[in-house]
Amino acid sequence: MVHLARGVSLMDREATAAWFLWLILVFHPLARVLANTEGDALHNLRTSLTDPNDVLQSWDPTLVNPCTWFHVTCNNDNSVIRVDLGNAQLSGTLVPQLGLLKNLQYLELYSNNISGIIPSDLGNLTNLVSLDLYLNNFTGQIPDTLGRLTNLRFLRLNNNSLSGQIPVSLTNISALQVLDLSNNNLSGGVPSNGSFSLFTPISFANNPLLCGPGTTTPCPGAPPFSPPPPFVPPSPPSSQGSSTSSTGAIAGGLLLELPYCAAPAIGFAWWRRRKPQEYFFCPC
Ligand SMILES: *[C@@H]1O[C@H](CO)[C@@H](O)[C@H](O)[C@H]1NC(C)=O
Ligand SMILES: *[C@@H]1O[C@H](CO)[C@@H](O)[C@H](O)[C@H]1NC(C)=O
Ligand SMILES: *[C@@H]1O[C@H](CO)[C@@H](O)[C@H](O)[C@H]1NC(C)=O
Ligand SMILES: *[C@@H]1O[C@H](CO)[C@@H](O)[C@H](O)[C@H]1NC(C)=O
Ligand SMILES: *[C@@H]1O[C@H](CO)[C@@H](O)[C@H](O)[C@H]1NC(C)=O
Ligand SMILES: *[C@@H]1O[C@H](CO)[C@@H](O)[C@H](O)[C@H]1NC(C)=O
Ligand SMILES: *[C@@H]1O[C@H](CO)[C@@H](O)[C@H](O)[C@H]1NC(C)=O
Repeated sequence: MVHLARGVSLMDREATAAWFLWLILVFHPLARVLANTEGDALHNLRTSLTDPNDVLQSWDPTLVNPCTWFHVTCNNDNSVIRVDLGNAQLSGTLVPQLGLLKNLQYLELYSNNISGIIPSDLGNLTNLVSLDLYLNNFTGQIPDTLGRLTNLRFLRLNNNSLSGQIPVSLTNISALQVLDLSNNNLSGGVPSNGSFSLFTPISFANNPLLCGPGTTTPCPGAPPFSPPPPFVPPSPPSSQGSSTSSTGAIAGGLLLELPYCAAPAIGFAWWRRRKPQEYFFCPC
């Protein structure tokens, strides 16, 4: 009996050891594969980019995770939260796998020569706070999936060659604080509702095919565009006639070019009427 019991307990121990071995063999590699989803996604990006200065040299896909790679920041759970590759002279294209970096908050790729489209998969990065792709050579449309990035505060896509319409889904991003779409080839109407009520024409400048509020062109079918009425000075005292009307013309020009300057300009112009010899400067 004693002998048999000892045999059973020996078999128990062997079974336990085998169980642990099985755990190590099966779960450890599996855990590694899971943990390195993000490393694999970033390594995919590396292979899709041309990197003349070897800034991605430390991006070694055989490491357990990408958290020791340069230009990559992880949280305490070894999940990537930042990719900082601004001004790195990278060219090539982005990869859809970037959409797998589920905890990413900052994607900083500004001032490179990256071309191709902005992958719609970036709309899966729902923790993204900042998407900086400005000063590159991106083409194609702004994906409307970006409207799902409800935590986004900074969206800077300026100085690329993006075309097509501005997706209205972006008006849904209530956290959005900074938007720069200037210097592209966007077309169609500029939304002005939702988060877009904050943004001034500066955000949309130099997209000649845009129309509507915040641009110089009315959209076809929209109510006729009404520029602010030119400043008409009240009938001047006869001795100051000519200088007063030239002040009016300058103020009118300011009204057309710099609408936000209008109120102080009108006030200043009124004041200026009495001091015609001085030069007129915009006070803003
Ligand atoms: C982009 O590439 C052009 C030449 O193709 C080069 O002149 C320019 O400096 C590059 N810009 C950046 C930011 O690397
Ligand atoms: C992003 O989400 C879309 C729709 O849910 C899905 O089809 C796509 O595979 C996802 N992309 C990635 C890289 O996970
Ligand atoms: C990329 O854009 C920059 C300006 O942002 C321009 O100087 C450069 O020539 C472009 N490169 C290509 C390959 O189009
Ligand atoms: C962006 O593009 C505009 C128009 O091409 C250009 O004037 C401006 O200098 C560019 N911005 C930068 C930072 O290069
Ligand atoms: C904005 O969000 C609401 C609620 O999630 C959704 O129903 C609507 O379709 C979105 N609008 C756009 C233009 O994406
Ligand atoms: C801008 O986009 C329009 C189509 O929307 C296209 O016809 C035109 O060639 C583009 N211009 C540039 C400079 O890419
Ligand atoms: C803004 O207006 C468009 C329709 O013009 C609508 O689809 C979109 O949901 C609106 N956005 C918000 C935040 O109400």
